[in-house]
Amino acid sequence: MSATSDVLTVHAPAKLNLSLEVLGKRPDGYHELVSVMQTVSLYDTLNFQPHACIQTTTLGEVNLPNDLVDRALTLAQEWWHIPGVRSTLQKIIPVAAGLGGGSSDAAAALLATRHLFALSTPCTEFIEAAAALGSDVPFFLFAGTALVEGRGERITPIRHPDSAWYLLVNPGFPISTADVFSALEPEDWSSGHVTHSLASAVIIGEEPRLGVNSLQPVATRLYPDLARCIRRLEDVSGAPALLSGSGPTVFTVVSGPDVGNQGRSRMERYGYWSRVVTAVPSPALPSPCRS
Ligand code: C5P
Repeated sequence: MSATSDVLTVHAPAKLNLSLEVLGKRPDGYHELVSVMQTVSLYDTLNFQPHACIQTTTLGEVNLPNDLVDRALTLAQEWWHIPGVRSTLQKIIPVAAGLGGGSSDAAAALLATRHLFALSTPCTEFIEAAAALGSDVPFFLFAGTALVEGRGERITPIRHPDSAWYLLVNPGFPISTADVFSALEPEDWSSGHVTHSLASAVIIGEEPRLGVNSLQPVATRLYPDLARCIRRLEDVSGAPALLSGSGPTVFTVVSGPDVGNQGRSRMERYGYWSRVVTAVPSPALPSPCRS
């Protein structure tokens, strides 16, 4: 975060689902989840400034069909009666990629509003506002490493790994989260056991590793190119690869940036977008949900 002549600049991090299990379908049509989520060092950059109305601009040629920053600021105006905010967004995190970029931007917009207008709204109300914007948004009020449950609104921060590096690969086509969830079958549901054990392993400081993703079999059925991308990443890294969220970004644990960058060059030769990132501990801005 930095502030120059009342412009607040915020770096909103991406997330990975180190494990994600779908436990079943809820009466409200959403799915009951358990996930270990982790913020990583890949960021969108946003600027916020108090203004007479809400005005959002996305820089470059990015097409955002569902602009979550605009929705977050509109919600903040309705709920907390702020005058307005002017914002610009520079997208770096791939869109509709399973990396939570739009959700992180929305959480950054809520936290920026709190900062700019010195709101004293408690964490519980921020979570409610975040959940109204999308299932992944509440996590970004906490960031770092967390066990995420329910529809995505029950967050338990867990010990942050001392050092964890990941190689991300995106095969370059967007995936609709709603499409993947709606193709889930009861056979894809599981107990949450693998994800809870991964959370326990993180808490006691075990080496970083991956759990499972209940959405991966469905997503690879719907998008066969995704299965090829996962196989290639596993061949290159010699380690298991996992889908993040509903994808299509896939990732693997690497021992450090040098090994990661060797893998990155090999994956880029296939024409994939690829990055090496590390786990980051903090939200984009001071948050009422983090002491
Ligand atoms: O909450 P959000 O709008 O991000 O969710 C996108 C879609 O993903 C929802 O419309 C729903 O189909 C699906 N979803 C779900 N269960 C969740 C989260 C998302 O079924 N816990």
